[in-house]
Amino acid sequence: MKIDGKPYRTIWLNEDGWSVEIIDQTRLPFVFTTVTLRSLEDAAKAISTMQVRGAPLIGATAAYGVALALRDNASDDALDRACETLAATRPTAINLRWALDEMQKAVRNQPRDKRIAAAYARAAAICDEDVETNRKIGEHGLGLIQAHAEKKDGEPVNILTHCNAGWLATVDWGTALAPIYRAHDEGIKVHVWVDETRPRNQGASLTAFELGAHGVPHTIVADNTGGHLMQKRLVDLCIVGTDRVTANGDVANKIGTYLKALAARDNGVQFFVALPHSTIDWNLDEGSAIPIEQRDPQEVTHIAGQLSDGSIATVAITPKGSPAANYGFDVTPARLVTGFITERGVTPGSREGLAVLYPDHTRR
Ligand code: MRU
Repeated sequence: MKIDGKPYRTIWLNEDGWSVEIIDQTRLPFVFTTVTLRSLEDAAKAISTMQVRGAPLIGATAAYGVALALRDNASDDALDRACETLAATRPTAINLRWALDEMQKAVRNQPRDKRIAAAYARAAAICDEDVETNRKIGEHGLGLIQAHAEKKDGEPVNILTHCNAGWLATVDWGTALAPIYRAHDEGIKVHVWVDETRPRNQGASLTAFELGAHGVPHTIVADNTGGHLMQKRLVDLCIVGTDRVTANGDVANKIGTYLKALAARDNGVQFFVALPHSTIDWNLDEGSAIPIEQRDPQEVTHIAGQLSDGSIATVAITPKGSPAANYGFDVTPARLVTGFITERGVTPGSREGLAVLYPDHTRR
């Protein structure tokens, strides 16, 4: 996607041919800046501090993290240690483990002197595949938005999304936002309700930033607004991303997604989940088994923002001493999911729906 007219991906190899550049998402929407990753530790820190976040981008960063680790030591032990370190950074997004498995497959059987090149080649391919996958998700999701547009008599199609599942969460295009970009580029009128997504505000800061940069009309709403909007018939459909979908179609996504799905069901609003194949965990049968990340309570008790002098500050918003809990994700049962938008097409939100699109799936 373009920022100030310049095309960007969220992660790329530098001209030196080995160090890796990322966009520092902790500084958005106020400052657009990049950070150079030069080691396994840099990559692990970028993921755990959420300089990079979003399931597919976490996977891509972990892949380059393995390549960076092998530059220091290309032994079997070092490969395993690197994968363990990276896997421990964030527990919920299965794309991280998928990417590490891919790296093991690409590197493990290579002679030591070929491992670094093999790792960089697979990491680059994971990034390219992600872009193409998301482009196809956009293509398949376009039809859903088009169908709504035909009923709207020239009025915009109102789409509600939660968290950030746009290009910043992937290598490019995004998952949930890919159909929206595609529709907007086709000249279909769309308007996006952007959930702020407390506690880290990925909606208010990242989704709004990227929709604005692409010229897509949008409105940021406080997290609890969605139900009211749906009752007032101001939402035509919901599209969200996901960090892990289990074999039965249950969906883990940013905390608060479940409540939107409940409100959607109560109001007869379609609730779609956009995802690439790497987000499906065929090893888990249902969502209750998904590990839910719990992060530092300070993300709940404090908030970051820009002061009038342009500096970025973090301020407390709760009484000193009040405990806080910070659950990062929740699980939306498959029964509340209208359908999945994938690179292979749109399918019902169920075990059968997934199995039809992925008859060739394997367990790890
Ligand atoms: O904690 P985050 O910001 O990594 O959470 C991101 C989400 O919940 C996204 O919706 C999900 O990763 C899908 S990204 C295409």
